Amino acid sequence: MADENQTPDTNDYQMSFEDSADRVPVLWIHGFPLNNTLWDYQVDGLADVARLITPDLRGHGMSEATEPPYSMATFADDCVNLLDDIGCAGPVVVAGLSMGGYVAFEICRRHPERVAGLILAATRAGADSAETKAVRDASAGVAIAEGVEPIAEGMLPKLMAPDTYEKEPDLVEFVREMMLETSVDGLVGASAAMRDRPDSVPDLAGLELPTLILHGAEDQLIPVSEAEVMRDGIPGAELVVLEGAGHLPNMEKPEEFNAAVRGFFEGFYS
Ligand code: MLT
Repeated sequence: MADENQTPDTNDYQMSFEDSADRVPVLWIHGFPLNNTLWDYQVDGLADVARLITPDLRGHGMSEATEPPYSMATFADDCVNLLDDIGCAGPVVVAGLSMGGYVAFEICRRHPERVAGLILAATRAGADSAETKAVRDASAGVAIAEGVEPIAEGMLPKLMAPDTYEKEPDLVEFVREMMLETSVDGLVGASAAMRDRPDSVPDLAGLELPTLILHGAEDQLIPVSEAEVMRDGIPGAELVVLEGAGHLPNMEKPEEFNAAVRGFFEGFYS
């Protein structure tokens, strides 16, 4: 995709270079309590068609933790500030998995001019129920008292399809390590951000953006019906359900996931 370029007018010699500026810039926002290594298969498999920008959200991975609580607005502004800082001033495709999808909806509300398209993976548009809010507060309490490990161990089997969990120990270990890199402040802050996030269902009809929705058929945390709500609500949205995948379809079925994303990107070149 990249061109070999030469700059006879601006230099006193023929400088050869490549620039991925002709590739679709994509901001990939990870889920909870994960980090940007979630997207390793996409970084490896899609670099020829996309400029991949993969932040660690505040308090996750290698990003600094600030004192909780956080909000979706904080996460959304952090991401857009990063785009500004790296000189990515134009609109980008915003891709979010689960909590990353909640951040993507917030970017659409706060910075609509920065969004060229959406990839929504294993996520939902609706807000938390009262019961879920209470569970979030309880988990945050456990993390404050005992650290991230009990939360990570409790979530791990639910993050993947049962078959993945049983047959892919390396992937399970990778995801466990990813979760353990989250700071307590990050976990507590993100829990509050998710608990207090607004309902994005009323926004769906106004999202006149190319949108690809990807969902694992065996997602134990967010049912496929939530992906159908987004498909039915966002004009022209396409839904791809990945058989045999759970809540991390981009890692569990990377080839199928990447193939769907490639197909989606073709629309950006035509
Ligand atoms: C995530 O994977 O980001 C979380 O499970 C989302 C949530 O708890 O709502």
